Amino acid sequence: MIQATLHQLKVFETTARHGSFTKAAEELSITQPTVSSQVKQLTQSIGLPLFEQIGKQLYLTDAGRELQATCREVFDRLDNFEMKVADLKGAKQGKLRLAVVTTAKYFVPRILGSFCQHYPDIDISLQVTNHQKLIARMWENQDDLYILSQPPDDIALCSQAVLDNPLVVVARRDHPLANQKNIPIQRLQHEPFIMRESGSGTRQAVEQLFEKRRVSVNVRLELGSNEAIKQAVAGGLGMSVLSEHTLMPEGTLGELVALDVQDFPIQCRWYVVYLAGKQLSVIADAFLQYLLEHAQSRSIWEGRTAANGKTALSRR
Ligand code: PGA
Repeated sequence: MIQATLHQLKVFETTARHGSFTKAAEELSITQPTVSSQVKQLTQSIGLPLFEQIGKQLYLTDAGRELQATCREVFDRLDNFEMKVADLKGAKQGKLRLAVVTTAKYFVPRILGSFCQHYPDIDISLQVTNHQKLIARMWENQDDLYILSQPPDDIALCSQAVLDNPLVVVARRDHPLANQKNIPIQRLQHEPFIMRESGSGTRQAVEQLFEKRRVSVNVRLELGSNEAIKQAVAGGLGMSVLSEHTLMPEGTLGELVALDVQDFPIQCRWYVVYLAGKQLSVIADAFLQYLLEHAQSRSIWEGRTAANGKTALSRR
């Protein structure tokens, strides 16, 4: 049986996450020699190196990666235990670790806000990143729940649809196509196009449609942010495809318009997912139930009308 203390595992896990003894020491408020010596003792009791050092950067060995995954499970279980104890005492306390794709940031904080009013004692870590990076987080089991619109099929997941996520062609309000109906998708080939960065789920959905319809657009600009794309469209740099959710915040409704293009909107849906086999914490489970319950009523998703789910975005 390997002799390791919880403290040594914590020190190892923090070092592995940062790839640095110094940063681990900072996070844990201990000295850097203490971190090195704890990792050294752990290495000795395991009998295999856990890190390789190249320059100043630490890289995990195979044994180190295995131990990192084990540490995550151990600490998850302990966190869950603490949350269960709090629950048994009649309080919901603990941390909710949520990771969402960039486009979901337009509505997730709103529902988190109302969830927190019900459970004021919980802490939330909300990671916002693009589709590809979110999948990498899933592989590493870094979060409790994920919200995205195209769950991968090569990871075993439990997923539930929560809301529509229509992707629309967006142009400046004074664009010559703004008043036209039923614009053929091939017409987009004659327009300068602004695309999300590679790794974006929105881009993936758009590329799939263009490939299916054999449409090849002239990409003038690639941008890693929906907000930057909106500004670029408003600035006359071209048109783009964005989730309707990105168009809700005030300030853009007057400048942008969703075009009536054939095959659009692309009908995506938002899913809340977690790793199959993962034991959800009390808090994560409470949030999941809250999300599913309120997604049905829709009134919680500000900016959408309860009646038909259409946004306040003007469509011509
Ligand atoms: P994105 O993902 O923010 O990476 O474009 C959106 C999605 O999953 O649809």
